[in-house]
Amino acid sequence: MTAPVALKLEGVARRFGAARVLDGVDLSVRAGERHALIGPNGAGKSTLFNVIGGALRPDRGTVWLDGVDVTRRSPHRLARAGLGRSFQTTRVFARLTVLENLRCAAWCGVVATQSAHGVPGLLSKWALWWRRSRAIEDQAERVLVDLALEPAAHQPAGTLEYGAQRRLDLGVALAGGARVLLLDEPTAGMNRDEAARTIEWMRAVMADKTLLVIEHDMDAVFALADRVSVLVQGRIVATGAAAEVAADERVREAYLGVPPGPPRDPGRTAP
Ligand SMILES: Nc1ncnc2c1ncn2[C@@H]1O[C@H](COP(=O)(O)OP(=O)(O)OP(=O)(O)O)[C@@H](O)[C@H]1O
Ligand SMILES: [Mg+2]
Repeated sequence: MTAPVALKLEGVARRFGAARVLDGVDLSVRAGERHALIGPNGAGKSTLFNVIGGALRPDRGTVWLDGVDVTRRSPHRLARAGLGRSFQTTRVFARLTVLENLRCAAWCGVVATQSAHGVPGLLSKWALWWRRSRAIEDQAERVLVDLALEPAAHQPAGTLEYGAQRRLDLGVALAGGARVLLLDEPTAGMNRDEAARTIEWMRAVMADKTLLVIEHDMDAVFALADRVSVLVQGRIVATGAAAEVAADERVREAYLGVPPGPPRDPGRTAP
């Protein structure tokens, strides 16, 4: 049985002045899928994340999360509905410690999902506070272990080396408890080894999440993604398994810079 669709976009369009940056984007991501979004610089990938995440309003089109129309919802309401995101540039609180960063994120997630329903009275308020505190602490500690950052738990996040800061940024998205994560170039600026380790780590700790990941590094795409969509000039030009998409002529021409035509036989030499 195919999994239900977790995130669906239909006809999403957005202009900046005369520039049509998103030009009718259709995209479906199934629950539990790891879906990569690739495309040249300036294709509109981050803009699309801003629209899905509620930071930007689309001019046209619809965004569904778990079958519910969430178009134009604010980022915090989307977070409540189970959507999390990380950004192209790292956004951790540099002066807070690693654990404090994770606690902040866990606090947002726990407060958003646990209601005071059915617990009136002073004693019950205390019980609710205690329950929330435990849930926040547990969630933050769990992600700290997942990140393998226990030795740096009490270190200001700004003093971590770059790769660890990027990983913490992903941890913050995870600690919020979202089911669907939009991750904008999680391996940006990492060397090959770091990028490969990060992807391996993502596969392990985000196994039960639905992921839409913007990624430029094709090795990372092949290692991570079940399916890939290619955005060129604000339109999805191909969607499919990574190998299928990499072999698609329109993709090779628009993105990989390979002209269309029959594949060259590497064994033949020019006359
Ligand atoms: N707030 C904005 N105001 C005006 N133009 C914008 C704004 N945000 C993005 N753009 C323009 O929209 C286009 C798409 O930008 P976007 O950041 O979405 O591309 P991208 O695919 O994420 O590129 P990259 O791979 O370099 O991150 C660019 O031409 C950019 O200059
Ligand atoms: Mg971008």
